[in-house]
Amino acid sequence: MRLTLNIWRQAHSEATGRMVPYRVGDISPEMSFLEVLDVLNEQLTAEGEDPVAFDHDCREGICGMCGVVIDGIAHGPESLTTTCQLHMRHFENEQEIDVEPWRAGAFPVLKDLVVDRSALDRIVASGGFITAQTGAAPEANSTPVAREDADRAFDAAACISCGACVAACPNGSASLFLGAKITHLGSLPQGQPERDSRAVAMSEQHDAEGFGGCTQIGECTAVCPAGIPLDMISQTSSDVLGALSRGHFS
Ligand code: SF4
Ligand code: FES
Repeated sequence: MRLTLNIWRQAHSEATGRMVPYRVGDISPEMSFLEVLDVLNEQLTAEGEDPVAFDHDCREGICGMCGVVIDGIAHGPESLTTTCQLHMRHFENEQEIDVEPWRAGAFPVLKDLVVDRSALDRIVASGGFITAQTGAAPEANSTPVAREDADRAFDAAACISCGACVAACPNGSASLFLGAKITHLGSLPQGQPERDSRAVAMSEQHDAEGFGGCTQIGECTAVCPAGIPLDMISQTSSDVLGALSRGHFS
């Protein structure tokens, strides 16, 4: 395959960015989208040009580091897939493809396709923990967990913190991410002591980071590679209202 990639180039966070077209050849349908960027970068390096900066780590759909907007869709045209797991068989020979970074007020561009997603880390740091006694490891079955609670927590824990939900949301909201994190620990018995303070603290941090509010459009869940459902956003509202009714203010 041969492709034309129109890629967002931006030297640093203060620089003015622009789309730059590149021709890339020798692409096989089995290659991942990131491997195509690797081919392009080898080409640019050989020509003495600055390679395209993009985030990646595991390349197995686990770490959440990768992510670009491909032809207007976060993580590209294949659903339930990260950019590193998106393969070129989903594209046509001689196709022209636009590649942009996550676009959101809370995710400033650092360089080219790399954005600063540390706002998500600060939301987790504000309440994504439990209190547990130190010492010898407790007996594994000493805290029974109902099957439906374990399943719900497991589904929420599938969030890999990639930020695609934010990039897809017209409001730039991280409500799906927030809902997954609050649902994860709030569904388990170990997460109950901090459930109220967690819901309030993480929601406040979300707003303080400049993420927008949720208006239930659903673009977030459509691009989420982990299949986080929209009702986890309702879990946030329910937990925050419950916390406020019990007098948990920040
Ligand atoms: S909710 Fe989905 S899209 Fe959003 S950060 Fe988590 S895995 Fe990524
Ligand atoms: S590089 Fe880890 S999820 Fe894509």
